[in-house]
Amino acid sequence: MEQIDWSTLGFGYRKADYNVRCTYKDGKWGELRVSDSEEVTMHMAATVLHYGQACFEGLKAFRGKDGKIRVFRMDENAKRMQNSCNTILMQPLPDGLFEEAVKKVVKLNEHLVPPYETGCSMYIRPVLFGTGAQVGVHPADQYEFIVFVMPVGPYFKDGFHAAPCCIMRGYDRAAPLGTGRVKVGGNYASSLASGVIAHEKGYNAVIYLDARSKRFIDECGPANFFGINGNSYITPDSESILPSITNMSIQQVARDLGLKIEVRPMPVEELAFLDEAAMCGTAAVIAPISRVDDLDENKTYQILPDRTPGPVCTKLYDTLRGIQYGDIEDTHNWVTIIE
Ligand code: PLP
Ligand code: COI
Repeated sequence: MEQIDWSTLGFGYRKADYNVRCTYKDGKWGELRVSDSEEVTMHMAATVLHYGQACFEGLKAFRGKDGKIRVFRMDENAKRMQNSCNTILMQPLPDGLFEEAVKKVVKLNEHLVPPYETGCSMYIRPVLFGTGAQVGVHPADQYEFIVFVMPVGPYFKDGFHAAPCCIMRGYDRAAPLGTGRVKVGGNYASSLASGVIAHEKGYNAVIYLDARSKRFIDECGPANFFGINGNSYITPDSESILPSITNMSIQQVARDLGLKIEVRPMPVEELAFLDEAAMCGTAAVIAPISRVDDLDENKTYQILPDRTPGPVCTKLYDTLRGIQYGDIEDTHNWVTIIE
């Protein structure tokens, strides 16, 4: 492996030795292939280029103290990718292919799974898109599935330090009956402009509100939102947010720790009553939120001092990471060891 300075490694693309690929054409998925190319060649009328037929996933592999490599909840990512495919009429994968591809690509690049002590991990990015040519608005008849990997550090530069977020009502990420509940490329295109503005203003991320009423918290561009109030873990119920596997896992961890779980609409004003708040996701892990600035109402919700994570988030973060790295017993069967 090239020399990597783990202490400064952020979240970004890095070439690995191999990726794995599979093509759907002539009415069937072919064999899984190993490639060392970073390129894709496709027809200029491919549906991914014009009509946004693309979805992706994100999951991670962790190296434990025992040297073993553990992949976290890949069955859930496989299910979610099927759901994305069905929603935008792409050809879903045959049962088991997602998991086979993930195991294969991690094994092939196992020397790129960072050492335990670094606190870094391997990010695994499956992507599936329409390569068949269409000029009329129709689903493609040909698809490509690729899984590539890279070693990564924290997604947000502050890592596990509380940082500010903002609310801007001039932008929606997803429509109530649109594609917000699946992981398709168009949702991220819609979040780019507001995301760049937020970063320029010094915020970690935008907290999007529900597009229908703009009264309730939805989620952030790359992660779900949750708050802690006393003994309650509260996270939004909405028809336009991605069901986060990290959020689902933290809810279980929180339940195991004796917290009460509330999944319900969260009015913006509730930010004033939270003891802690955070974003959560595979890339983000748990990224505590210090403050939320409502830029339209000119209002600030100060939740925690800047850079100071709260005690409940700290406990949830330590427990989740403990399970992922193999330091804490995996009582829910979330982890697959790559042999
Ligand atoms: N919400 C959005 C919009 C995301 O892109 C992600 C990242 O995958 C998440 C939430 C978190 O989901 P997960 O925990 O499954 O990674
Ligand atoms: C993830 O957490 O895996 C994501 O997909 C978020 C972001 C990098 C798009």
